[in-house]
Amino acid sequence: MAHLLEPLALRGVTLPNRVVISPMCQYSAEDGQAGAWHMVQYGRFAVGGAGAVMLEATAVSPEGRITHGDLGIWSDAHAAKLAPIAEFIRSQGSVPAIQLGHAGRKASMQRPWYGNGPLNEADIARGDKPWQVVAPSAVPLGEGYLMPQALDDAGLARIREAFADAARRADAAGFDIVEIHNAHGYLLHQFLSPLANQRNDAYGGDAAGRMRFPLEVARAVRAAFPAHKPVFLRLSVVDGAEGGRPEEESIAYAKALKEAGIDVVDCSSGGIAGSATAARGPKRSYGFQVPFAERIRRETGIGTMAVGLIVDPHQAEAILAEGRADLVAIGREALENPNWALHARMALTGENGHADHWPKQHGWWLSVRDSALAQLGPYAKAAE
Ligand SMILES: Cc1cc2nc3c(=O)[nH]c(=O)nc-3n(C[C@H](O)[C@H](O)[C@H](O)COP(=O)(O)O)c2cc1C
Repeated sequence: MAHLLEPLALRGVTLPNRVVISPMCQYSAEDGQAGAWHMVQYGRFAVGGAGAVMLEATAVSPEGRITHGDLGIWSDAHAAKLAPIAEFIRSQGSVPAIQLGHAGRKASMQRPWYGNGPLNEADIARGDKPWQVVAPSAVPLGEGYLMPQALDDAGLARIREAFADAARRADAAGFDIVEIHNAHGYLLHQFLSPLANQRNDAYGGDAAGRMRFPLEVARAVRAAFPAHKPVFLRLSVVDGAEGGRPEEESIAYAKALKEAGIDVVDCSSGGIAGSATAARGPKRSYGFQVPFAERIRRETGIGTMAVGLIVDPHQAEAILAEGRADLVAIGREALENPNWALHARMALTGENGHADHWPKQHGWWLSVRDSALAQLGPYAKAAE
């Protein structure tokens, strides 16, 4: 069997195949609450045969949102709006997953289609008012960005607790995987990076100090989420900016995460500098972040997920067959083709899977259509 189609058991949860839909912010929530868009957005990936569908970065507290349109999970009312989405994903045989995040100094931004920068007069006129952002240190993202307030011990404790509460709510809402967002220049990545973390207390300084807070959050989430459900963590393995931390620090961090009971490191990169959502990082090419997943898996023994410009089923299959990662995450390709996983199955097995693997509501009709097309041959204008 193709590696991509093999189930993967993590603790007590089994993904039916190795395709995970990568978390992708929709900037379409109202006061942090999910609506019809989110049901359709995530539902179609489950219909499309993904092994797990990961909901976008979902804020653990209101000030941790990137934009006014971010999903949140800081109250039971927010979780109640997410529960039907998790239930629908499960009903399609896929595993419901959710990313938990806090944007830190990259909060209070414009939605991408309004410009990606700090909120301005036009946004305020639309009702999107700026708010005070927090970070490890009072170092803004760049010129023209909001000055963050450096978090004190009480602030750190609140955020740690907010992540743990979010994990409890995610479990209660029916999610079987939570992923901690420790990438792309958001709060937990800010703690790891000397470019954003200039603290001189126990949470800054050398690599061990800069890892301390993200590790505390990882332990708090692990303790709050049921032992039979896996916890993932998305890491910017390198900052991808001058003066950023070396890849070796991420190896040491992944070892500590493994000891903390984290099951999978989802290996991304970049985002610590540059604009709000257009992240700077390593040069982009097909599968450009796979070497990170491969190295962390090999040197630490923790499970890894590869992400970034994985576009082709055979490319994804080779990543798994060569032992470079345990899972592949598919982002924009799935936006373009929500049935990516079903098509990958057909490409890798050479079988027409419409009758057996597509949802029953579509599969029978498609197999009838396949017979009709086989009789007619390829469409040509002259044959009309
Ligand atoms: C619209 C959009 C929203 C995104 N939002 C998130 C997010 O919420 N959390 C995250 O970790 N990455 C986010 N990303 C990054 C993707 O998860 C993924 O890592 C990236 O797009 C590279 O994978 P791809 O080449 O398969 O798209 C987003 C990407 C896109 C295109």
